[in-house]
Amino acid sequence: MTFIIREALAEDAEQIIAYTKAVGGETDNLTFGKSGFPITLEQEKEFLKRVHDNRTSIHLVACKNGKIIGDGSLSGLPRRMCHRAELGLTVRRNYWNQGIGSMILKELIKYAKVNGIEIINLEVRSDNLNAIHLYEKFGFRHIGTSPAYFKIDGHYIDFEIMYLDLR
Ligand SMILES: CC(C)(COP(=O)(O)OP(=O)(O)OC[C@H]1O[C@@H](n2cnc3c(N)ncnc32)[C@H](O)[C@@H]1OP(=O)(O)O)[C@@H](O)C(=O)NCCC(=O)NCCS
Repeated sequence: MTFIIREALAEDAEQIIAYTKAVGGETDNLTFGKSGFPITLEQEKEFLKRVHDNRTSIHLVACKNGKIIGDGSLSGLPRRMCHRAELGLTVRRNYWNQGIGSMILKELIKYAKVNGIEIINLEVRSDNLNAIHLYEKFGFRHIGTSPAYFKIDGHYIDFEIMYLDLR
């Protein structure tokens, strides 16, 4: 399958808002559902510009024929945590298990290494086995389990806290 990975730019804001709603409706793995984030088009554009200008943050999109089918991000932290970034990763369900998540993750780690990010942190549902497999494949290690991290329709869901040490 042919796809490209590139940085998300302000011009992508509208498509990213639609993508977020679509991907949010496809799993209960994310902090948002089918409503996506409550963010306006202008706010999303500003956000993407800020990410672009911040050396320890990046937002990548995987595109097939111009359509976003996956995304990944590193969100740099401030002050005494500025050596760390939080990771996010999603792929549209129709495209799972075709190597897109791995390719995005590889690019994010490459970006981290050349931009002074020393630790990548993430949180993932403890039952999200394909994501955990992917993170372990790239060297992420488990810190521990955070109990009842999500509460969806009255059900509590544990999360694994993981990190990649690039020092
Ligand atoms: C997690 C996610 C990003 C992975 O994307 P993807 O494009 O399917 O990833 P890849 O195809 O590169 O890799 C998937 C890996 O999981 C493995 N896998 C699939 N099902 C699995 C299972 N039940 N148990 C263990 N491993 C499994 C695949 O074999 C593959 O590993 P391999 O490369 O060693 O063969 C995607 O499933 C997704 O978007 N899920 C919903 C959002 C989400 O959960 N994001 C993570 C939030 S922390």
